[in-house]
Amino acid sequence: MLPALARRAIESYSDPGDLVLDPMCGIGTTLVESIHAGRRAVGTELEPRWATLARANIEHAQHQGARLLAQVIEGDARHLPRLLATHPPACGRVDLILTSPPYACEVADVSNANLVSGVGPIRREDTSNYSADRTNLGHARGRAYLAAMAEVYEACAAVLKPGGFLVLVTKDMRSGGKLHNLSGDTITLCENLGLNYWQRIIGLLATVRDSEIVMRPSFWQTLHARRMRARGERAHVVAHEDVLVFRKPNAPSA
Ligand SMILES: C[S@@+](CC[C@H](N)C(=O)[O-])C[C@H]1O[C@@H](n2cnc3c(N)ncnc32)[C@H](O)[C@@H]1O
Repeated sequence: MLPALARRAIESYSDPGDLVLDPMCGIGTTLVESIHAGRRAVGTELEPRWATLARANIEHAQHQGARLLAQVIEGDARHLPRLLATHPPACGRVDLILTSPPYACEVADVSNANLVSGVGPIRREDTSNYSADRTNLGHARGRAYLAAMAEVYEACAAVLKPGGFLVLVTKDMRSGGKLHNLSGDTITLCENLGLNYWQRIIGLLATVRDSEIVMRPSFWQTLHARRMRARGERAHVVAHEDVLVFRKPNAPSA
């Protein structure tokens, strides 16, 4: 997630001193931005590799002056209530959950060295779908993805305090010749769990240069769109992310 996007969401949907959770925290962007903004933070992450980097990023933020603490717990986000039992008094008291889940499509970092030299694969296989471990939800597709993410969001709803916010950053990606409606699927999943659909914000992947908006779509999206256009298919690059905001009702009857 872009740090600026995380910062904006944290400032909009939580207050100083609040507890922020990222259940799939990756390298810890949400946690770092939370402690810089004076919030307490906790993250869970399946992969020890990314959890270690998240802890290093938190330590770095503390050297830069962030005064609050953030903890990273290794484990499966589907078991949040159990994982947070070791982090009292977190369960049922989280003010804001902010995350960017896997997008149900192939992801990998770009090897800049190979891209520049033109030698070797552009795709960094060691980062493919976050892990070689097939239980990582980066590998889940279709119905299996929806079922697993329903479990993650149910666990999120359980640890949120009444009135707390769940903010999800998703992206509608193209694959197999189709645009996948991940934002729509995510809204359905969360509404089915009884969360209130609160807001939807379009996060442009752009920068401002000389008063002009310059789009900055990802490398893979650009490559994909160029290949489609070369085949004569009329497709535009997806140059935004969807920021989906949900709220846990204050009382069952609310
Ligand atoms: C898109 S990244 C999230 C990055 C981070 N949330 C951010 O916004 O910067 C998705 C992360 O989910 C992790 N993940 C996948 N399945 C998981 C699971 N069942 N429980 C916890 N983390 C999981 C992956 O290892 C990966 O680090």
